[in-house]
Amino acid sequence: MLSKEENDLLTRVGPGTPCGELMRRYWQPAALSEELPPGGPPLSVRLLGEDLVLYRDAAGRPGLLGIHCAHRGADLSYGRLEDGGIRCIYHGWLYDIHGNCLEQPGEPAMRWRQSGSRNSIHSPTSDAHAEAASTSHARIHQRAYPCREAGGMVLAYLGSGDPPLLPKYEFLTLPEEHVYAVKLFSSCNYLQGNEGNIDLLHVSFLHHSERDVQELGADGPTPDGKGLRDNLRTLSGRGAAPFIETCEAQLTDVGLRICKVRDIGPEENYIRVATFILPNLTAVPGGQTNWHVPIDDTHHWKYTIIFNRQRPLDKERVSRRHTMTADYTPIANRENRYLQDRESMKYVSYSGISPSYFQQQDLCATEGAGRIQDRTQEHLVATDAPIVAARRILASAIKEVQNGRDPPHVVREPGQNRFPNIVATFGTIPKSTTWKEHCNQLASEGRGWQTRMS
Ligand code: FES
Ligand SMILES: [Fe+2]
Repeated sequence: MLSKEENDLLTRVGPGTPCGELMRRYWQPAALSEELPPGGPPLSVRLLGEDLVLYRDAAGRPGLLGIHCAHRGADLSYGRLEDGGIRCIYHGWLYDIHGNCLEQPGEPAMRWRQSGSRNSIHSPTSDAHAEAASTSHARIHQRAYPCREAGGMVLAYLGSGDPPLLPKYEFLTLPEEHVYAVKLFSSCNYLQGNEGNIDLLHVSFLHHSERDVQELGADGPTPDGKGLRDNLRTLSGRGAAPFIETCEAQLTDVGLRICKVRDIGPEENYIRVATFILPNLTAVPGGQTNWHVPIDDTHHWKYTIIFNRQRPLDKERVSRRHTMTADYTPIANRENRYLQDRESMKYVSYSGISPSYFQQQDLCATEGAGRIQDRTQEHLVATDAPIVAARRILASAIKEVQNGRDPPHVVREPGQNRFPNIVATFGTIPKSTTWKEHCNQLASEGRGWQTRMS
């Protein structure tokens, strides 16, 4: 449970808010690259409560500017893309990707003439002594944020000061064919979305389904050695592995390592490990990373990134586009009650939401908690320990920024731009080894971040 003040601290992300300032110290996705094809129209983007326009200039470089023209506020997303920038259609002011105003073609050249003892400006005049192009454009600077492109995304830095290095998360370093990125609209605060990644226990309930067992083998063995299939003749309300799972967490340099441990017998444990990477993304077991990017306080984009370090991905196979509309809105959503089929709850899907809509199962839970979950009303239990720890490190990172320091893993030295402690994996380990020892070993061998095999 949090106090209202604590809840506000972690969930409010607009300009000037403490958490908003933390978020702005990290590169954040502004759009998918596929939304901004060469020659395509500018995009209206809302990010961290700011209304912005994202466009690609003639050289192919992405630019992210305040959406309201510095002149009289027209919406630049309707602008013309030409002459090395974006041109407002109200009076033709032209901006480059750095926010420089290159032209104000409505302004006439200034002509100067002597009038008595004082200089005065007349426009136009026939008896000018001197003449110069208007320079008022040079005094205008449109709000502009630096952008980089990697991993199929356009990332932006909305903070003050020099941007840090783009972090070398593995999916931001691989060739384009090795990475699949997509996003999904979520009608709730970003923290609810990301806490779903940290709460590994829910997988044994919300996502419990017959298809997981058949296609993915995703939820592993049970103490009787039979696996889930035999337990799925009917889907028990007690979930995949009742009373035998615990959740623990361990601090790391990037955030928090989280493990769900399932006691499957005297010899072995089954573990699932994720890493919460400050401030709003999590590498989850199964080769996927979820990045919950605030649109504003009550909506966010869930970017999902899947990668394979060895070979190109079969993007058709991993695609999530069949679960969403062209504008990345979930097909199963709150308006249609996530297409819940109560009959299917007996045999097919614990939640009654089709396993084909795996992410929408999450949305049912996270959006169901309200636009901003009222955490003064929750009752956390032992298996929520990782949630408690994650909130603490988030609050502590906010404090770092308030004290004028860089928060964790904001990297400015190229030699430090590596993240071996990100571990996302699952499997069986002997009881003689703790999950922490196992993860430390994987990390030391550079094998911690398991990637998608297909
Ligand atoms: S409002 Fe944009 S040029 Fe006038
Ligand atoms: Fe989930």
